[in-house]
This record gives sequence, C-alpha cells and structure tokens, in this order.
Amino acid sequence: MNNGPMGGEEDEVQGMMNHGNVSSLESSEGINELSIPPLMEKQQGQDFDYEVVAQEGTTEFFEGISTDTYGYNGDLLGPTLKLEEGESVDVKITNDLDEPTTFHWHGLEVPGEKDGGPHGEIQPGDSQIITLKADQPAATLWYHPHVHGSTAEQVFKGLSGMLLIDEGSGSASELPNEYGVDDIPLIFQDRLFDEDKQLNYNRLMNPDGTLGDISIVNGTINPKLTVTKPVMRFRILNGANARNYTFRLSNGASFTQIATDGSLLDEPVETDKLTLAASERAEILIDFSRLTNEESLAIINDDGVELLPFDVALDDSSAGSTEMWTADKPFLSEQEKAMPVTKEIELFGMMKMVTINGKKFDPNRIDLRQEQGVTEVWEVYNKPDMMGGMIHPFHIHGTQFKIISRDGRDPEPNEQGLKDSVMVEPGEKVKLLVTFPEEGVFVYHCHILEHEDNGMMGQVEVY
Ligand code: C2O
Ligand code: CU
Ligand code: CU
Repeated sequence: MNNGPMGGEEDEVQGMMNHGNVSSLESSEGINELSIPPLMEKQQGQDFDYEVVAQEGTTEFFEGISTDTYGYNGDLLGPTLKLEEGESVDVKITNDLDEPTTFHWHGLEVPGEKDGGPHGEIQPGDSQIITLKADQPAATLWYHPHVHGSTAEQVFKGLSGMLLIDEGSGSASELPNEYGVDDIPLIFQDRLFDEDKQLNYNRLMNPDGTLGDISIVNGTINPKLTVTKPVMRFRILNGANARNYTFRLSNGASFTQIATDGSLLDEPVETDKLTLAASERAEILIDFSRLTNEESLAIINDDGVELLPFDVALDDSSAGSTEMWTADKPFLSEQEKAMPVTKEIELFGMMKMVTINGKKFDPNRIDLRQEQGVTEVWEVYNKPDMMGGMIHPFHIHGTQFKIISRDGRDPEPNEQGLKDSVMVEPGEKVKLLVTFPEEGVFVYHCHILEHEDNGMMGQVEVY
C-alpha cells in the first residue's frame, strides 16, 4: 500500500514533476472566512479534563471534492488547548488512526515521559491519560505527532493544534485576549495536492522538506479575516513542514511583535517584517484604527503573495492602544554571556544525508546528558556543504532557551524572549542558554519534518 519514501520509479518521476515551480504560493482570493479552531472543551464528570483523539477525516478544500485528511477531534487540525499559567490538567490521548502516533506538546516543559516524542508511541485503538502542567510563562505553543519516520506525513495530512498558556485572570496585562475575537491563532501551512486533489504524501514528498503551492491558514483555503476590534493580537505559528515565511503587511505598515516561541519579549518591537522558520511562533499586534475602512490590507509573504486578506469592519472606531512595556534588566546577564560552551551541535547535510554531529537518530543511543535544572551553553553550528547548504530550524524538547549570540553578535531585539526553535543559517554558529526543568529523555532535531524523519535528530538525557 505504501511505497515508502523511495517510491516506485513512476512515483519518483511524478514527484519530480510536481516539484517544478512549487516554491511560490498562490495568493488568497479572500473567499472563505478564516476558520478559528474551537477551544478544547473541558470534560465534566470524567476522570480527565480534556480528550484529544487523533482521527481520520475528510476536508473540502476544493468545492465538491473531498480530500482525505487527519485531525484531532475532527477532520483537520485540532481544537486549541488553553491552559492558565501554573494550571495542571489530565488529558486523555487516544489514537483512532490505523497507524501509531504520538502526542507531542511542542514547547511545553514537561517530563520526558509525557513529552510525546518518538518514545511515546500510542498504538491504533489505544488511549492514555497524562498530566500536563503549564509550569512556565504565558506563551503560544502547539501540539503535533512525533512518530519517527511518519511525523512529516501525519502533520502534512492535518495533525497540528495550538496550545496556549494564558496570562491568567489575575495578570495586569492589557493585551487583547478574547479568543477568536481580538486574540486569534494563525496556523500558516503550505500544501501540495496531487491531480485528484489528495494529499498523497508518498507521491508528493520532497526529502528536503515538502513545499506546496497552496497556502492554508487554520486549514482554510483562500481565507479572509473580518476584523472588528481596533487592536488585534495574532498568535502566528509556522506550521509548515519546511517552508520559511517572512510576513509583512501589504501596505508596508509596521506592527508590533510582542512574543517569541515561549514568552513575551523583554520589550515589544516595532517592525515591518517577521521571519519564522518551521515550528517557530510569534505574537504580534496590528492596530487597525490607523487605517481607513477603504484601505485593503493583507498579511503577505515576502514575495508579495497575499496569505491573509483582512475585511476591516471596526465595531468601535476609537483609537487602539497597544500596550508597551520596557525591560527592567538586560535580557542576558554578563555572567550568562560569559559562560563557556559545554555542548557542541553540528548540523549537516541535505535530503536523506542529514546528520547531527555526524550521526543519524538512534532511539537506543543517548547522545548527550545534562543535569536537571543546571544551565549549559549549547553551540549550534550549521556546517555548509559544497553547494552552500541550507537553513535548518533547530528545536530542543523539554526546554525554553535563550539565544546568547549569533556568530558572536547579540540576538536581535525580536529574539530577546524565550525560544524552543531557532533558525540557523548555513555557516552560522548560534549559542543557546539551555536549562531543562524536568527529567527524562528529550530529542533535539531539525524541524524541517522530512529532515527529522530522515534522522536529523539526537537525544539528551536529563538526570
Ligand atoms: Cu515540534 Cu520535536 O517537535
Ligand atoms: Cu517539540
Ligand atoms: Cu534541516
């Protein structure tokens, strides 16, 4: 049934043909109102608080055509799990697929056995109840499968959801936080369909990262978003298998970045562009009161492609106020900046020949060890090859780290917040300040999902 990644010869030719000219996305025609993933509902009278079921489904991306997809508690993507800072919940995870899967909480600092990495396989038909504690600052995280060898395909078919840690009711923050009204998750993905408009991964996949020509946002094709509040908060996830996005506003206006992957920024940053590699997140504020209603506005990609057009219909014409704050101490102390490198990571290769420190992933091998609660400096080097090399987004499970430097330079203001994924350019050396608050075995890997499946992954044991 499954030709495996090498495919048959015909499939290979088909695959290459499909890969001509797919680097650019098509602009959204702005036809469909953006779907907002529902908030996951708390269960009553059960011995768990939430249930997440990985299941098969169908989705009508193209009118009258049903595409086979995967989803959590539905046909495509999953509901948003929202936890308050410090909250602890029991989550029942169920695998209703025909293949093993895992439930990975990307960015959540939980013990290794709850992390849902490659060791956390749930077999078809099985369930498990796990306790998740949101013991870290408010942030935009996400969840997705992590079965070694099938992560890319399962995500491609639709398995991803948002996991938000909320500031909490007691917080002094005046940031917009009415979910679905002025606080909107945006999951950007690109998809490649075959001639039958199916997501036939084995025919479409590219070992360097499957790129598509169709942009979807929250699973909606040709989306538009009706905006009613002057100041909107967008929680942006690059949920693509491989594509890097550089987001801008179509009128060139600036917006305010307020958060990185794992926390609010030390200080909000006014900017006119935002680059996110696969798996990175950012929160931004857009002030629509500065616009007239006639003006058309969209979030565009760097090349001008419209990803998300807005329909601005403010129900309140008062000027927006975008809350600002200033850092009360430097992002990194002098002592932190001076810490010696204790772990070296070398990313290398492309296609199937991808390695970390010269090795491919082996679930039975521990590559690194680090003591729980003890901070170390990891230096991640993206070693170029004869062709130059490519960007690898490097991700570590079980931790939110700080970027100390890029080739010796301080991190940009919009990277001065907690991170769990970092984009590393060919030839670049990035130093990270890494602490694991929980014990267990955690993976670290390239978040181009095909590179991860091809073995660009290692394991750190936290003791
Ligand atoms: Cu998005 Cu290994 O994780
Ligand atoms: Cu992760
Ligand atoms: Cu990579």
